[in-house]
Amino acid sequence: MLAIDLRGKRALVAGVADDGGYGFAIAKALAEAGATVCAGTWPPALNIFLNLLERGKIDDSRRMPDGALLQFEKIYPLDATFDTLAEAPEEIRGNKRYKDVGDFSIAGLAQRLVQDFGDRPLDIVVHSLANGPEVKKPLLAWRASGWCRATAAGCLLQRRHWRAIRGRWRSRPAANTECG
Ligand SMILES: NC(=O)c1ccc[n+]([C@@H]2O[C@H](COP(=O)([O-])OP(=O)(O)OC[C@H]3O[C@@H](n4cnc5c(N)ncnc54)[C@H](O)[C@@H]3O)[C@@H](O)[C@H]2O)c1
Repeated sequence: MLAIDLRGKRALVAGVADDGGYGFAIAKALAEAGATVCAGTWPPALNIFLNLLERGKIDDSRRMPDGALLQFEKIYPLDATFDTLAEAPEEIRGNKRYKDVGDFSIAGLAQRLVQDFGDRPLDIVVHSLANGPEVKKPLLAWRASGWCRATAAGCLLQRRHWRAIRGRWRSRPAANTECG
């Protein structure tokens, strides 16, 4: 458990869609320290994640030392590949996993946070994205495009995130961290 008091702080953890990744573990640690936690979830994984939560399938992982279950204050659709919705190609916007979730871009997420929590909604941002389908292959079999996707999800998108929420801090930035 983190030996810091985050009561009264709100965190956004981008890159949570199950209980297996770093994002979930970080969200739980932040909640254990007293923060409220919102998640940004990749649209193709959003319904699966909501079902896992609703059906209690990951309750064991959600259980915190005080016995309470980790709660997400809000779970937002987020495809951090896109700064704005207009940037998303039609085939993505029309895809069955995307078309009904609203604005899933980084700008859309920033706007929803402001709508839900006011002009300065966040104290902590954690960027824990990974999108590397090529990772399963031996390194020399990776295509350049696969390498770029994996790298972009890790570092470039973190910079965009940071820019999109600049000036939206509720308090002095408590933290901005990236796992990759
Ligand atoms: N520092 C280290 O030693 C170390 C070790 C392992 C992983 N990492 C890094 O930690 C981060 C998380 O890794 P993990 O093992 O938890 O991965 P993971 O695959 O379990 O989780 C990554 C999450 O990112 C989401 N995601 C993918 N593309 C997205 C997009 N375009 N928009 C929004 N969400 C998207 C996925 O849905 C998933 O929920 C990665 O950046 C990874 O490179 C660092």
